[in-house]
Amino acid sequence: MSEIATIVDRHRGKRGDLIAILEEIQSRYSYLPEDSLREVAQRTGRSLVDIYGVATFYRWFSLEPRGKHVVTCCMGTACHVRGAPRVVEALGRRLGITAGQTTPDRNFTLETVNCLGACAMGPVVVIDGRYHPKVASSAVSALVDRTARGNGTAEGEEADGKRLVLNVRCPRCGHSLLDEQHPLEDRPSIRLEAVRDGRAGWIRLSSVYGSPRVAAESDIPSGTVVDFQCPQCHAHLADGLPCWDCGAPMFALQIVGGGTMSFCSRRGCTRHLLDVNPEPPTRPLLSER
Ligand code: FES
Repeated sequence: MSEIATIVDRHRGKRGDLIAILEEIQSRYSYLPEDSLREVAQRTGRSLVDIYGVATFYRWFSLEPRGKHVVTCCMGTACHVRGAPRVVEALGRRLGITAGQTTPDRNFTLETVNCLGACAMGPVVVIDGRYHPKVASSAVSALVDRTARGNGTAEGEEADGKRLVLNVRCPRCGHSLLDEQHPLEDRPSIRLEAVRDGRAGWIRLSSVYGSPRVAAESDIPSGTVVDFQCPQCHAHLADGLPCWDCGAPMFALQIVGGGTMSFCSRRGCTRHLLDVNPEPPTRPLLSER
């Protein structure tokens, strides 16, 4: 039996099976090879057009082989007016490629997106899931060099306070979710309950906005969708909206001082959204509808 056949059989008949199949193929090959999509069509009885429709709808999926490091520059309006075009140009010059391409040594892929949900921090560049706010075109070369050496932190980033650290609480009971005793990235972590397959365990997220760093009671495989709850009142924290990148549910926490921070529930997906608003959030939680 082929590897694709095994993957298809593993998800056959389950809710959201096509996305789960594509997710597993991509985690195996790092992109979606054309042959594998043809085999998925043949084995699931779906049309190839439908499968390509899903694969191209979500930015999470890639139809081209990607580099070891993925560099994504936001070209949304807020980042654009703050100089994102110059940043993309500098990245392209440094890497010798244009947006949408991968370097011949497969080390770097350069991509652009329309908004990363962190407009106040523009121009924003994300490298391997780590957000770099207010990037100047003159800083790009050093950032690429440090990534190639295995340290994607921008020169001086820690020292000059560019990181946006969030103080969050439960939108239902208002209890603080910060865990001072167990920091991540030298900052208090965000402690939540993670529920999957009917079992709950603790999980700590980084309070640095956009950071993919987590620590969890048990290993959570890449691609797994997790249900998040408040550890105090056990409220279900889903905000009822799907992730723009992978379709998994988004979860929302209230920022102390106003606004919400939302994040995708799929392990490995780095989609975050920041809505800094002095008014209390008006969007009801799913459990309140
Ligand atoms: S426009 Fe760049 S993060 Fe929104």
